[in-house]
Amino acid sequence: MRKLTYFIACSIDGFIGGPDGDASFMYPFVDEEFLAFLKAEYPETIATQGRRALGVDDLPNRKYDTVVSGRSSYDVAFKEGITSPYAHLREYVASRSLGESPDPNVEIISDDLVGKVRALKAEDGELGIYLCGGSVIAGRLLDEIDELVIKTYPIVLGTGMPMFGSGFAVSGFTLDGTRVFGNGVMVRTFNRKR
Ligand SMILES: NC(=O)c1ccc[n+]([C@@H]2O[C@H](COP(=O)([O-])OP(=O)(O)OC[C@H]3O[C@@H](n4cnc5c(N)ncnc54)[C@H](OP(=O)(O)O)[C@@H]3O)[C@@H](O)[C@H]2O)c1
Repeated sequence: MRKLTYFIACSIDGFIGGPDGDASFMYPFVDEEFLAFLKAEYPETIATQGRRALGVDDLPNRKYDTVVSGRSSYDVAFKEGITSPYAHLREYVASRSLGESPDPNVEIISDDLVGKVRALKAEDGELGIYLCGGSVIAGRLLDEIDELVIKTYPIVLGTGMPMFGSGFAVSGFTLDGTRVFGNGVMVRTFNRKR
């Protein structure tokens, strides 16, 4: 089985963005040291535009070959005219409203989201599936998530968009790795207890 990994940036108090989801105030934490880590370990999580700007568009995928996003997360790039924000991955966007895909590299999942993700997990392959977010889709897919890679930035927001837009339920994970960076960013990796 391929893993579904929720790879996400958040505040100390667990918010992935402001109340409207905007996460642009987190960008300054991607400094030289942290970017070097992302390029080395998770290059495929850098969006296509960013890879081009950094001159690293040819970096091979290391962990994931597929990305799943909710339509609101996809909208962040779409509003800028970018229809394939992760062109180096197979892209799936969950949406009941988008209708036809705006890009040949993007497949819309309009129904049976969990079934589609289970089918992707059941495919053969070395690389896993990157769950990009946001909150709503992570809540819908919580039971399918095998791994969490949580990039915690040293800020407190008080309120904002939660990591999971789902109801109360206790899900156990084991801590499998921690990396701390000079600017206070901490990356923790957890695997689900099954
Ligand atoms: N901090 C980070 O690392 C990070 C990462 C990613 C995103 N974000 C932020 O997260 C925000 C967006 O998150 P969000 O929670 O508002 O939305 P989201 O999870 O990105 O997308 C929600 C949309 O997904 C579709 N959807 C939900 N359940 C579905 C189902 N069962 N089947 C098919 N489609 C389904 C619906 O689209 P339709 O309405 O089209 O049907 C729904 O409106 C953005 O503002 C972004 O900045 C932050």
